[in-house]
Amino acid sequence: MMVDLKGRDFLTLCDFTQEEISYLLDLAKRLKAIKKAGKLYQPLKGKNVALIFEKTSTRTRCSFEVAAHDLGMGTTYLAEGSQIGKKESIADTASVLTTMFEGIEYRGYGQAIVEELAKYATVPVWNGLTNEFHPTQLLADMLTMQEKLGEDLKGRKVVYFGDARYNMGDSWMVACAKMGIHFVACAPKKYFPDPELVARCEAWAKESGGSVSLIGDPKEAVKDADVLYTDVWVSMGEPDEVWAERIADLKTYQVTKELIDAAKPGAIFMHCLPAFHDRNTKIGQEIFEKFGIAEMEVTDEAFTSKNSVVFDEAENRMHTIKAVMAATLGVDPDRD
Ligand code: CP
Ligand code: NVA
Repeated sequence: MMVDLKGRDFLTLCDFTQEEISYLLDLAKRLKAIKKAGKLYQPLKGKNVALIFEKTSTRTRCSFEVAAHDLGMGTTYLAEGSQIGKKESIADTASVLTTMFEGIEYRGYGQAIVEELAKYATVPVWNGLTNEFHPTQLLADMLTMQEKLGEDLKGRKVVYFGDARYNMGDSWMVACAKMGIHFVACAPKKYFPDPELVARCEAWAKESGGSVSLIGDPKEAVKDADVLYTDVWVSMGEPDEVWAERIADLKTYQVTKELIDAAKPGAIFMHCLPAFHDRNTKIGQEIFEKFGIAEMEVTDEAFTSKNSVVFDEAENRMHTIKAVMAATLGVDPDRD
């Protein structure tokens, strides 16, 4: 049956089938080819999307803006200065935005907020990152995996190092379970993902041929890995006070060149970015002054190694976000 995502929200990959996710990846590839060929594809001229950012962003904001403009749409950015959640409820905001926009992106805190927005909006709502999930990042990551390792994702092994109970760890576990990929969360026990989500993912993995493992030892986890993935140890919105504990807990889960070399030959290193791999950031410098560490979740050597595909991932954010907007707004260059 032909996949049709017109009118759907994009809140978490939990809501999507393997066939639907594969369709979005294929659509992203086709849209990327159009852009690379220097051709215009503007089927959504005259439409507008609202981009709500309650947390900071470089990649996601730029991707939504560029992708929307490429498709012919206008964008409105809402951040600090809006009434959302302060003077106006999420439900009322959804009702207001629905009258002016054809789609709404939301980046913020609890997943419940984006779900609430979607409940009251009558246009598609897209999750641009919540504490629990970052689904558009996963589409970019899987597209990059296909480009670097081959089209067939089934049977690949992804190891996630670090805080595996937050948005990136959760999202990877769901994506792998849906797509038939072997997922390993490599972390101290207290950073393992929520058991309820693990159980749901195990059930999906049973059907897809993937698997979910929770492993404490990085050397054991990395064996035969195709992808080594990590993310910041302290996420947006978390208090500064947690740094000391996170550094102590996650230091031994840092991705190094030695760890990459212990994986499958040709393995790739991925990171959603931004990354703390040197002292060239305000926070990186502050952490160095306070704790004496110059690199955090990934060493600079690993980050800049030939195995690292982090900037390809960043580019693919735009192509995959374009696919999400196109599909949910009902356009496809091969169907129009
Ligand atoms: N990876 C990612 O979401 O980056 P930004 O926070 O810059 O959007
Ligand atoms: N876990 C990170 C992801 C950033 C893209 C955060 O939420 O800050």
